Amino acid sequence: MTSLPSNPATLPVLRGGMVGMGMIFDETYAPFFEAAGHGLYDAATGAFRVELAGAATRTGDRTAAYVHRRGLTGFGNHIGENAVGDLLASGIDFLCVASPDDKHFAAAKQGIEAGHHVIIEKPSVLSLAELDQLVALAKEKDVLAKVVYHKLLDPDHKRLRTLVADGVLSHVNNGYCSLLEPKSISGSQFAAWITGRNPGTYVAVHYLKLIDFTFGGRLKSVQCTGQRGLVGPKNGPTWDSTQLRLVYEYESGREAAFDIHTSWVTPDNFPGYVEQEVQFRFDNGVWNGHSRKRGVELTVEGRTPHELKNTINNHYNASFLEPWGERSRRGYGIEVIERFAREVAYVELGGDGNGRSARLAEMAARDYNDLSADRQVVAAVEAMEAILAKAAAGEPNAVVEVNGRSGGLALYLPGKSEPEMLYQGTV
Ligand SMILES: NC(=O)c1ccc[n+]([C@@H]2O[C@H](COP(=O)([O-])OP(=O)(O)OC[C@H]3O[C@@H](n4cnc5c(N)ncnc54)[C@H](O)[C@@H]3O)[C@@H](O)[C@H]2O)c1
Repeated sequence: MTSLPSNPATLPVLRGGMVGMGMIFDETYAPFFEAAGHGLYDAATGAFRVELAGAATRTGDRTAAYVHRRGLTGFGNHIGENAVGDLLASGIDFLCVASPDDKHFAAAKQGIEAGHHVIIEKPSVLSLAELDQLVALAKEKDVLAKVVYHKLLDPDHKRLRTLVADGVLSHVNNGYCSLLEPKSISGSQFAAWITGRNPGTYVAVHYLKLIDFTFGGRLKSVQCTGQRGLVGPKNGPTWDSTQLRLVYEYESGREAAFDIHTSWVTPDNFPGYVEQEVQFRFDNGVWNGHSRKRGVELTVEGRTPHELKNTINNHYNASFLEPWGERSRRGYGIEVIERFAREVAYVELGGDGNGRSARLAEMAARDYNDLSADRQVVAAVEAMEAILAKAAAGEPNAVVEVNGRSGGLALYLPGKSEPEMLYQGTV
């Protein structure tokens, strides 16, 4: 094993910039950057370190609090109309976009246009037209454009995919997934940007990717229902919960259907805070997964279930006292960001300039996180958003056909024979 030098300042550095410094920054990006500042080692690149150079946010308050808490100097706190532009001009190598989902596209586009590698929090973007632009731009600018779906790195989901890839589990027929967030998410954490949004785009997307990446196949249709009245008015555009249904077809010509239920109005004293469950039924088996009930149940008088959780997911992101005495914060939520940094390092530090395009192509071919491989997921998100918008406008029960009779993404309303085309090209 190669050890890192005692003075990381001597290492080649990759400078990152953040757009958005909210909950997901605190949970995953902050621990990643804090650890990677001491150096990372990769056999393909040698040792390097990663530094967070600055952030572009709406108010700058959370950046200021972070800078104060960490005692940082020279950290760029960019706000205002040109916050992202100022961050890009401060000299960074890659941009992390973790702002609300309807703000991802503009920031990512700006980052790629400026010639920087970009990673976007899920959902990458909200339409195929936006995805097409970012993928084409990344190609033109010779940079990586990637998205974070940390559930693909959850050891349970990796095991599921392994059993499918190895043919141990054969042909998925149907399944359900549910992800329930507490009321505090919709009521306070996201209150500033929740109007007009829905929990499906925010969290069903994790399972859209899991299903798409694990089972492959061709997305054929999307349906969605939902409820309103808690987060916003009962006839308004803001949704409390959603029920999404996808139909896929596989090479054999056989189909599968998946139901994904999400909510952000579960009571705050729910024992596990975030409830995540999946069941997939195959020709020869059943996979039952519960990301919260993995076997640990904790009670601390006066502290659970609010400050500490009763059933804890220690695999996602948790603080540990390691057996060798060090304090660490680890988990797949952090590992997924580190993998992206290693991919950027491979392109930029993994050899001489002549080999850069080949290294870039190799990293862009990683379909677990490349934007070019996110088409069916973005199609499902775009379809779901359009179906919910129609329902909010008094036209419920639409169905979106994918690459069907009319091509691309075609939204059909009951009683109307002509579809509304959301996306004309092939998905
Ligand atoms: N991978 C995951 O499991 C996971 C979990 C939570 C959130 N997310 C994603 O991360 C993103 C952010 O979520 P969050 O939970 O951190 O939200 P949050 O509301 O806690 O934070 C949002 C941040 O974005 C900033 N912001 C708002 N508008 C902006 C703008 N126009 N330009 C720049 N910054 C802006 C805010 O100042 C704040 O710092 C969302 O896309 C969400 O879906 C992913």
